[in-house]
Amino acid sequence: MTALLDDPLDAAALLRSGALVAFATETVYGLGADARNGQAVAGIFEAKGRPHFNPLICHFAEAEAAWAEVRADDRARALAAAFWPGPLTLVLPRRADCRIDLLAGAGLDTLAVRVPAHEGALALLRAAATPVAAPSANRSGRVSPTSAAHVMEELSGRIAAVLEGGECAVGVESTVLDLAGGGAALLRPGGVPLEAIEAVIGPVGRPLPRHAGPAPTLRSPGMMLSHYAPTLPLRLDAREVASDEALLAFGPPLPGAAVTYQLSETHDLREAASRLFAGLRALDRPGLRGIAAMPVPGEGLGPAIRDRLARAAEPRE
Ligand code: TXA
Ligand code: MG
Repeated sequence: MTALLDDPLDAAALLRSGALVAFATETVYGLGADARNGQAVAGIFEAKGRPHFNPLICHFAEAEAAWAEVRADDRARALAAAFWPGPLTLVLPRRADCRIDLLAGAGLDTLAVRVPAHEGALALLRAAATPVAAPSANRSGRVSPTSAAHVMEELSGRIAAVLEGGECAVGVESTVLDLAGGGAALLRPGGVPLEAIEAVIGPVGRPLPRHAGPAPTLRSPGMMLSHYAPTLPLRLDAREVASDEALLAFGPPLPGAAVTYQLSETHDLREAASRLFAGLRALDRPGLRGIAAMPVPGEGLGPAIRDRLARAAEPRE
């Protein structure tokens, strides 16, 4: 049985005992484990059915706690001051005395760290008094959950508890920025727009095209395409829609769809991001030919939304 909890103290006690607890962040729900407990971290991969080479993000209640585990340079500190707590993940070199279990970082010499902007998550992290490794709280290959009910659909019976934290305000995952190699590279667009990051540290490199190499050589396994797929095929930049298709609308909807989910009637990219995963779930119904997604522009949170849609649209083997 998976418990639905209201009190972060109960959730923290479970985490400290080595159990898995899903919790809300401002981006999506995470599936948390004590990052210093290898058995607990292994449980995450088991519960998700996730390939073992995917490194996890470690969550902290404050930047100083993160800097105890990874080496932060001036850029990392400036970005943390500007965007933490918030939807930015920094990939930095592990310290020699880093206490995070190696499996949490998939054996890499770098670690992804962030301080989430959600009161419930911060209360949990403070009470647990340990870093919490947490990928999105979905089964492998499925879209990220943005409500406690979504998490229950995905993981009920497989984890100890879900800490109720309401609907996630941002709705797409954190921006992942690699600062480990001396340069700066965007590994995953997300809740903090690239322009805002560049305003703090200057130009950021874009990652290689997704098909540039076999998966194990990719710097971020998160760039793999199969990560976010609904069951139905998804078609991007739709300008018309068929009567046996579901429509993911952005702005005034195209006419004629079997069913429509509106991301944002008013072209508000924040609203659209916060509704994206719920929309993909709502439209992923049997009996339809596919999902047609209307175009989303390329500024602000647009690239993060387009990235998630492109992954969901990629045909799977
Ligand atoms: O918003 C979020 O980031 C959510 C919430 C729960 O914090 N978490 C999340 O975790 O989306 P996950 O595991 O679904 O995605 C983590 C991303 C993956 O793309 C992973 O490959 C990348 O971060 N990543 C983690 N550690 C890394 C590292 N050491 N080097 C490169 N990429 C890393
Ligand atoms: Mg995920």
